Amino acid sequence: MRKLIFATNNKHKLGEVREMLDGKVGIVSLEEAGLSGEIPETADTLQGNALQKAQWVWERTHCDCFADDTGLEVDALDGAPGVYSARYAGEHCSFDDNVNKLLKALDGETNRKAQFRTVICLIEDGEPRYFEGKVEGVILTERYGKEGFGYDPIFMPDHFAVSFAEMPLEVKNMISHRGMAVKRLTEYLNK
Ligand code: IMP
Repeated sequence: MRKLIFATNNKHKLGEVREMLDGKVGIVSLEEAGLSGEIPETADTLQGNALQKAQWVWERTHCDCFADDTGLEVDALDGAPGVYSARYAGEHCSFDDNVNKLLKALDGETNRKAQFRTVICLIEDGEPRYFEGKVEGVILTERYGKEGFGYDPIFMPDHFAVSFAEMPLEVKNMISHRGMAVKRLTEYLNK
């Protein structure tokens, strides 16, 4: 089976992507690949960060690999937190801190439109290729649900009446930003 290193140790992301690739491609985490250390994420675009993370793995292993970078882009905040979604409430903040800060920033705001956008950078034989996915929705006024991670409890995708954190993983994967980007990656890998 073909193997790809996924530049993450986030068990939620690994679970999501493994479920979507359904045993067709072996996904190896950073830890399983024997890689440790902080991967730099200093670009100011999702594409730049995805490339930076994938290149970090490629330079150390020369194995085909991919990295993803995701941002939650909120209309009323001119696209913030965007590329800074992980550190929105500060360096080393928790998912909870980020959610609290966003709920506060949108307190009383009626335009609650937002989108999650993911860019995947695949490096094959040293050559980068990009795959993008996005999902539009709204930011809820409080948390709903216990599934998922990050901003899931306060994001409700369009055409649904529940948050991402209230959905079974298979449903989230079918419509999510990362789901769409991974689908495009899979279509390419299966070609
Ligand atoms: P990353 O760059 O892919 O790690 O994503 C940056 C941040 O966006 C994460 O720390 C999470 O807070 C958030 N995020 C990414 N993907 C998701 C998701 O599927 N649901 C909710 N939040 C997410």
